[in-house]
Amino acid sequence: MSDWEPPVVRPRRLRQSPAMRRLVRETYLQPSQLLLPMFVAEGLSEPRPIASMPGVVQHTRESAKAVYAEAAELGLGGVMLFGVPEHKDAEGSGALDPQGILNVAIADARAEVGDDLLVMSDLCLDEFTDHGHCGVLDAKGRVDNDATVEIYARMGVAQAEAGAHVVGPSGMMDGQVGAIRAALDEAGHDETVIMAYAAKYASAFYGPFREAVDSSLTGDRKTYQQDPANAREALRETLLDVAEGADIVMVKPALSYLDLIADVRAAVDLPVAAYNVSGEMAMVEAAAQNGWIDRERTIDEVLLSMRRAGSDIILTYWATEVARRLR
Ligand code: PBG
Repeated sequence: MSDWEPPVVRPRRLRQSPAMRRLVRETYLQPSQLLLPMFVAEGLSEPRPIASMPGVVQHTRESAKAVYAEAAELGLGGVMLFGVPEHKDAEGSGALDPQGILNVAIADARAEVGDDLLVMSDLCLDEFTDHGHCGVLDAKGRVDNDATVEIYARMGVAQAEAGAHVVGPSGMMDGQVGAIRAALDEAGHDETVIMAYAAKYASAFYGPFREAVDSSLTGDRKTYQQDPANAREALRETLLDVAEGADIVMVKPALSYLDLIADVRAAVDLPVAAYNVSGEMAMVEAAAQNGWIDRERTIDEVLLSMRRAGSDIILTYWATEVARRLR
């Protein structure tokens, strides 16, 4: 230590007290930027807990209503609705039916909150198909891109007609955003916003979600969702969605994909959303239940990392809890 000089520059000076740290904090969580994903199931008499997602349930239409109201009251950005139908078929026809569970849930939500909260809907067929894929299959059993996109376009119109402010195409079919935009505009729904799942990966982190929606999938989605090894492809997918008319672009999952949130943030001027998916949530909950981590601090750190990486909007199953705590 003999020739050591005390440092002139001392970053610790700005960390010395809560007040000082508050002054220089760069990133915040705000209820208005949090979206709550919700599952509304057909034919349930009471809400059904999802074992792998502590605190999350499949709602009945009735039980969901209180959550829409609470989300509005807390000033959340919105709710993202997923439907869990009782009956499925090869074409996923429940997705187009105005009486299908997702479409009636959208209408319920709008009746409850009007324009005080944004009502968003998942635009994908996987909850409605008996084979569990995000699209319809061709004669060889492959997911048929263009036939699926045609159904998505009609599904988008059905959701807008039910009252969705925002539709979220999540099926990763080529050309889906452009087709949905054209169909919405043609039907007079030019105000309906498209939040595109732009870079969506074939991820093991969706595990608990499959239980949440009673998924019937066997096999995987690797022919349409992206390879977790690829980063450049995320920009390619995102720029295509922007060119096709997406209003908001999303990266999903979020936690293992923070690099891509930053890349997308740097590449586009649109709002960027990140989906803190079921498996990311389940890992934190499981570790917290074991007493291995401090649950609330971890949740805040996880969500802050997504904001810090550059996402404006976060879809998280913790949205109401965090919003309540922020108040
Ligand atoms: C597809 C969809 C999935 C999720 C959201 N939309 C599942 C999938 O692509 O297999 C996953 C969400 C989560 O894991 O929290 N409609």
